[in-house]
Amino acid sequence: MVKIIIENLGQKEVPVTRTDEPALRHIQAQGVDWMHACGAKGRCTTCRMIVLKGGEGMGPHTAAELKYQKAGLLLQNERLACQALVNADIVVRVPEDSKLPHLKYTS
Ligand code: FES
Repeated sequence: MVKIIIENLGQKEVPVTRTDEPALRHIQAQGVDWMHACGAKGRCTTCRMIVLKGGEGMGPHTAAELKYQKAGLLLQNERLACQALVNADIVVRVPEDSKLPHLKYTS
């Protein structure tokens, strides 16, 4: 099964049960809290994830992601968890400024 590994949450493994739903849905389904200030509508960048491995196995950038890339608010190695589809195993990190205060990150 395809999975998302969240490196700085203790290598947490999140199974991807549907490739037509964005990463955030799968992460939340595993009970992992993840910043998503706009309610997963593609109107902020707080759900950013840094993609360390497997980015080529993700769905194409959405219009929202392209807009933020153009504005310099989303780097080449970052995706919006509420937008990006996952079709193959990926390894991601939570960016420093999107870490939630009540969670214990491993790095
Ligand atoms: S939660 Fe706002 S863009 Fe993803």
